[in-house]
Amino acid sequence: MKEVLVELERRRSNARKGGGQERIDAQHKRGKLTARERIDIFLDEGSFEEFDMFVEHRSTDFGMDKTKVAGDGVVTGWGTVNGRTVFIFAKDFTVFGGSLSEAHAEKVQKVQDMALRNRAPIIGIYDAGGARIQEGVAALGGYAEIFQRNVLASGVIPQISVIMGPCAGGDVYSPAMTDFIFMVRDTAYMFVTGPDVVKTVTNETVTAEELGGASIHTVKSSIADGAYDNDVEALLQMRRLIDLLPASNTAPLPEIEVHQPIDEPDHSLDRLVPDNANKPYDIKELIWKTCDEGDFFEIQEAFAKNIVTGFGRVEGRTVGFVANQPLVLAGVLDSDASRKAARFVRFCDCFSIPIVTFVDVPGFLPGTSQEYGGLIKHGAKLLFAYAEATVPKITIITRKAFGGAYDVMASKHLRGDINYAWPTAQIAVMGAKGAVEIIFRKDLGDPDKIAAHTKMYEDRFLSPFVAAERGYVDEVIMPHSTRKRVARALRMLRNKDLENPWKKHDNIPL
Ligand code: HXC
Repeated sequence: MKEVLVELERRRSNARKGGGQERIDAQHKRGKLTARERIDIFLDEGSFEEFDMFVEHRSTDFGMDKTKVAGDGVVTGWGTVNGRTVFIFAKDFTVFGGSLSEAHAEKVQKVQDMALRNRAPIIGIYDAGGARIQEGVAALGGYAEIFQRNVLASGVIPQISVIMGPCAGGDVYSPAMTDFIFMVRDTAYMFVTGPDVVKTVTNETVTAEELGGASIHTVKSSIADGAYDNDVEALLQMRRLIDLLPASNTAPLPEIEVHQPIDEPDHSLDRLVPDNANKPYDIKELIWKTCDEGDFFEIQEAFAKNIVTGFGRVEGRTVGFVANQPLVLAGVLDSDASRKAARFVRFCDCFSIPIVTFVDVPGFLPGTSQEYGGLIKHGAKLLFAYAEATVPKITIITRKAFGGAYDVMASKHLRGDINYAWPTAQIAVMGAKGAVEIIFRKDLGDPDKIAAHTKMYEDRFLSPFVAAERGYVDEVIMPHSTRKRVARALRMLRNKDLENPWKKHDNIPL
């Protein structure tokens, strides 16, 4: 028995060395941790149970039969985050550059299958060179098997990808089909084809960072949902995100104990909206003051900043926040903001996370660049997402709710459960200037008449009361009571029971 144990330990210790000390040192020199170090930081101490540590590739071409490494470039298994089960795979760049062989793919598929069967989140850590070139189609088939599993798990369990090194070729599409992608600044990059191929095909000269670094994917392409300065920070933030998410689409919302009362008025909110309707203010202040202890995990913070999306908690239970941001483009809805918020709303609806929407929106952004870029289709995504969502939906209009954007932003007509307005709300087809110039065009040369018409329009329409008279807002509330009203509404809606008609799936405008 003793010899067997010694042999097991020898094999284990050999597998843990991955591609060897030299490559581990090179990894550290680049500011990156190894796959196992990353797993250790992400999971609760001592909770990692590894699978398939001794799996090796089966390829023989190009002398590969002489270069087998236990584990084959990916470390897989499960563990816990604050006691809750999570499945994980982490690409090991020290072994064949983390590239994907048939055997490597089978290891990933195994944890994907187990995560789905056991209804627990799965997190993938990427630091890899794509398909194992020596394996050819066997590697391509391995990728497709992984993609298929991503799709089947979508909307059933949360899937999170963290890019901590290269992520190219076949490695990009699995993350792209997961719920969230996060990156590490300066060390991570993602692209379908790298700078060399780009140069050959298009004659463009770009660096890896310019083509697919965190600065591109969090700001321009919106592929990534956030970025962090180093591996440790990224992994600790992923623990925070996991804490906020339910384990599956049938699991209850995670709940933590909080000591912040909900019925303390916050009078600073009474001064949040400036007197001048054209002056901006920071909607995040309202989010921070609504969620427990101001703890807000923002999604896509650097992209389409005219809308804010992210998770917080109210009375210890997770809530998704969506809010127009008057500080950026006056909070207007454009294509990017619509796509960003639509995807977030759909995630919340998949996982039964209630949605709280704060509205201050002057409408959709006019112009050829928006129309040519498909604003109609992108705006429809957000409209569709809110309309199909059956989770509790609470909407508070703080100031402007103009035009189609009023309808889109979780209005009563899209089955909003609780729709409140602050006394400063202005719910109308458009602002006073535009409205008067259209309906009183004949008086445009007469400033007195125009001023009188404008005053009449403002008095009648730029308030919450026309909507309140029709029941489109349930009540006009004091800003200082917002947290309490939201918390009480969420409590009331805990047993909400609403189903859409049966269908194979919908046909959201993509
Ligand atoms: C086999 C690979 C590999 C690969 C890297 N390695 N990529 N082995 N298949 N795809 C090995 C290297 O030979 C090297 O081995 C070690 O990993 C580290 O690689 P380096 O090149 O030394 O590292 P670095 O300079 O940091 O460059 C990393 C890299 C580069 C940018 C990822 O290796 C690279 O460009 N690799 C190829 C990327 C690629 O084109 N992949 C195929 C994509 S096509 P040693 O033994 O020297 O340490 C694809 C199609 C799938 O994925 C489509 C499905 C939809």
